[in-house]
Amino acid sequence: MKVLVIGSGGRCHAIVEALGRSSEVDKIYCAPGNAGIAQSAECVPIADNDIEALCDFARRHEIDLTVVGPEISLAAGVVDRFKQENLRIFGPTKAAAQIESSKDFAKRLMVKYGIPTAAYATFTDYDQAVAYVRSQPLPAVLKYDGLAAGKGVVIAQSYDEAEQTLRDMLVDDRFGQGRVVIEEYLQGEEFSLMCFVSGRDVYPMPVAQDHKRAFDGDEGPNTGGMGAYTELPFITDDDLAFAMERIMRPTAEALAAEGTPFCGVLYGGLMKTERGVKVIEFNARFGDPETEVVLPRLKSDAYRLMCDIADGRKTSAEWSSEATLGIVLASKGYPGSYAKGAEIRGVESVDGAVYHMGTAVCDSRLVTNGGRVMIVVCSAPTLAEARDKARAEVEKIGCDNLFHRSDIGDKAFKNRK
Ligand code: AMP
Ligand code: GLY
Repeated sequence: MKVLVIGSGGRCHAIVEALGRSSEVDKIYCAPGNAGIAQSAECVPIADNDIEALCDFARRHEIDLTVVGPEISLAAGVVDRFKQENLRIFGPTKAAAQIESSKDFAKRLMVKYGIPTAAYATFTDYDQAVAYVRSQPLPAVLKYDGLAAGKGVVIAQSYDEAEQTLRDMLVDDRFGQGRVVIEEYLQGEEFSLMCFVSGRDVYPMPVAQDHKRAFDGDEGPNTGGMGAYTELPFITDDDLAFAMERIMRPTAEALAAEGTPFCGVLYGGLMKTERGVKVIEFNARFGDPETEVVLPRLKSDAYRLMCDIADGRKTSAEWSSEATLGIVLASKGYPGSYAKGAEIRGVESVDGAVYHMGTAVCDSRLVTNGGRVMIVVCSAPTLAEARDKARAEVEKIGCDNLFHRSDIGDKAFKNRK
């Protein structure tokens, strides 16, 4: 069987590796891929939002299954286009992907179907938004309504900061269309629950926790994710049952009932608050870097599973009981400006998985080529062992221009009750 994976980051690399373990898969293409992915798949220079070129490629190469990585491809309508052509694709339609691409759509759906989330109001008018914010307690959670590459959420600690942010989002149109969701501030431990969803059928993956801030102790600016792990001791079986029965399943049901059935990975960004588990956000795709720590635990055949989901057949997903932990190596300066082209050494000596995020090969040397550069993932019977192993293995990578957090996974031990 021939597979096409759309995307280029660490998430995509992990998807390619999972598909590569399938006994049914003979050939994997990746568009556009990266230097690490190129070791396991044939990279083709097609951009992830060039829908016509992707569709044309899939048709000409008789691709049996296309798997979509990034939200930008979904929002561009790649799934709708492939379906028109009767090409099998794993991912939601543009309409169903609004659960991620529009905060307002997601919030309205949750309120209508009683899915627990922070209270909110939506605004397009600056004066009304400011008046509302000033009537609410601080901090204020301001979310730009649209895809903003992880930069659309501001937690304002003062009314002045809130006003400036609203001006950026609503008056100066720094983000685009100018609609803002203002939310109640929730407190608690965040975790990610990704599920394979086909209409009303929902199959959970192991829960994971991302680390969004750049520096140790959750300090510094938000990033695309500096590390993740699976096996969260502070999430109980009851929390998980609640998240599945009150959040993930009802959301899949709601999307189906609204005439926009979901197919693909529904990602719940959840928070365990004092008043139960609530939704912070939904994504319509595999999470990054959660996928890099979750998919290595998949024991079922990834190709079969994704075909079943794409075709709407009942299926099953089995997972190993090992814990996993991944540490991201990022370019110094990230998420601000950073240099590219620094040589990376020692990758081959790592005892674990290394998924490339932003690398390139230059004069047959592996070099940095992005903000987040790679993630080292180790697995072990316990989380403590996986953490210790990942911390040791990450040191084997030599590069003058990389940094990483040294506290990935520590929250699991602090929060143990
Ligand atoms: P999002 O892009 O929606 O995931 O938001 C980015 C981050 O902002 C989340 O991971 C949370 O840490 C934080 N956040 C978002 N919404 C809230 C909220 N209602 N209360 C507290 N923190 C939030
Ligand atoms: N890990 C957060 C995301 O994938 O959006």
